[in-house]
Formats: sequence, C-alpha cells, structure tokens
Amino acid sequence: MATTKASSKDLSNLFHDSLKDIYFAEKKILATLPKMAKAAQSRDLKAAFEKHRGQTEEHVARLEKVFAVIGKKPVGKTCAAIMGITEEGAEIMDEYKGAAALDAGLLAAAQAVEHYEISRYGTLRTWAAELGHNEAVNLLELTLSEEKETDAALTQLAESAVNIAAEAA
Ligand SMILES: [Fe+2]
Ligand SMILES: [Fe+2]
Repeated sequence: MATTKASSKDLSNLFHDSLKDIYFAEKKILATLPKMAKAAQSRDLKAAFEKHRGQTEEHVARLEKVFAVIGKKPVGKTCAAIMGITEEGAEIMDEYKGAAALDAGLLAAAQAVEHYEISRYGTLRTWAAELGHNEAVNLLELTLSEEKETDAALTQLAESAVNIAAEAA
C-alpha cells in the first residue's frame, strides 16, 4: 500500500539519505580543492584553499562519526548539486586560465560550494536535533561553523586583493 511505503520514508530516512549526499559532496570537494589551489594566482587564495582542504578532511571524518551515531556504514550517494557546482568551477579554471579575472572566478566558485555546504549542514543539524541525535548535532555544528568561517574568509579575499587585481588588469 502506498501509505505503508510513504510512512517508511520518515525523517530518519531523510536524514540518512542527506548524510549520504553530503558525504559524497565532501569527498568531491576534497578532490577539487587541490586543483583550485594549484590554479589560484594569488598566494592568499592558494593558502585559503589549502587550509580548507585540511578542514575538509575533518569534515569527512566527522560525517563518518555521524554515520556511526545512527548505526550506519559511511556510504556516499551521487550528489547532482555538487557535480554541477564543481563542473562550473572546472569551466572557470579552463576558460580563464592565465586571465586576470581567474582568481575572482575561483573565489565565486568556491563560495558557491560553501553556500551549498552551509545549507546542507544547517538542515542536517536541525534534523539531528529533532531526531535526538545530540552527538551528531555537535559534530554537524562544528563543521557548519568552519564552512561559515571559510565563506567569510573568501568574502574578505574577494573584497580585497583578488577582485582589485582583476579590475586593474
Ligand atoms: Fe566541508
Ligand atoms: Fe567547505
């Protein structure tokens, strides 16, 4: 019966599915950040990408702990959103290679990634709280605050040297 099927798709299923989605996304980001660091022209932007790569390793490890909290194996599920966002970043790296606006484009691509993560972690934290997974709330909250800090650091870079360099060229 349709009602049986629908009722089996509860918030804990949704939480588990979304966890798989962000787990896939974090691994994709982990593979992408070194490419962005390599492509960046500004020393500060390179450093920002390298720092966040280290944090992203922690994000993957924290998600594995969240899977353990709900008694599930850490498994990813293809996340179409992050594939699209990182594909756009790859296009910028390719099309603006050697151009003055390259770093401005990389910053914009990186902020799109952070905003996606902020959105997902905010939701996951709320759901973990509703489901009573308090340890998961703390883990998700830690990552959420690092994503927000990264976004703020990228905004600061965008407002300072990187965009000015693009305009001056
Ligand atoms: Fe992350
Ligand atoms: Fe991030």
